[in-house]
Amino acid sequence: MTTIDDSELSAAASGNAASDRFALDKGGFDSVKNTPVERVDMLAREVLTAVHETIRKHQVTYPEYNALKAWLIKLGHDGEWPLFLDVWVEHALEEVTTAHRKGNKGTIEGPYYVPNAPELGPDATMPMREDERGDRLVWDGTITSLDGSPLAGKVEVWHADDDGLYSQYAPGLPVWNLRGTVSTGPDGKFKISTIRPQPYMIPTDGACGQLIAAAGWHAWRPAHVHFKVSAPGHELVTGQLYFPGDPHNADDVACAVKPELMLDPKPQPDGSYMVIYDFVLDPVRG
Ligand code: DHB
Ligand code: FE
Repeated sequence: MTTIDDSELSAAASGNAASDRFALDKGGFDSVKNTPVERVDMLAREVLTAVHETIRKHQVTYPEYNALKAWLIKLGHDGEWPLFLDVWVEHALEEVTTAHRKGNKGTIEGPYYVPNAPELGPDATMPMREDERGDRLVWDGTITSLDGSPLAGKVEVWHADDDGLYSQYAPGLPVWNLRGTVSTGPDGKFKISTIRPQPYMIPTDGACGQLIAAAGWHAWRPAHVHFKVSAPGHELVTGQLYFPGDPHNADDVACAVKPELMLDPKPQPDGSYMVIYDFVLDPVRG
């Protein structure tokens, strides 16, 4: 497993950590063992046909083809396949796989989830440094089922710090910094004290950054708090919450912002912010 030490804040370091994490958690090819040959044939053929059509439509040249090859090789070297896919592809997948839900749909997971974050109980303070910078944020919420009944469940939360950095993917941060698992009792209620994260810039010194620069795009995601909400017999909701007024809400590089994920932070006399955000989970189908 790649670990990040104090010397590295680089695309390759965070990219390789994300690649290793992915290999460990997501089951890889085993999760599609039973996919029929016809489906693999169809999906592979249609993707390739779309590439061929782009080449014909725009008269792609050999130098451009070679630049693509060099870029794909670099994407692998930098360990940035998870970052690339989660920024530019995952939002479409998330859309088709949650469209049936009547409760919360969520949005993309991104590359920086780590399972088994410390269990904090229903009234939680996120693990953070004594001198953790950033405005305090207190989030109250309830998990219910579609019929309104409260659920004993789990809210896993992870987010960047005041520098836009994630623990385990940037050097010098405590392992579980700003990562936690909040379990609710039978009343479905939870309360989470944390800090307000800053906007996140995807790494610019690797292959993804090279594409962004070459295409004249930008590398920013708006500030966001990631969550995974689960309860027995219900569909897992994965998503992120956003803050009004962030300049990148309207042009998120990862296309993951949705209006229903916008928080309404209320400033408090002590300088902190209060938010309420509840979850409604769909029972597992059939
Ligand atoms: C990326 C980072 C994130 O924090 C996120 O939520 C989505 C994508 C990325 O660097 O690819
Ligand atoms: Fe993120």
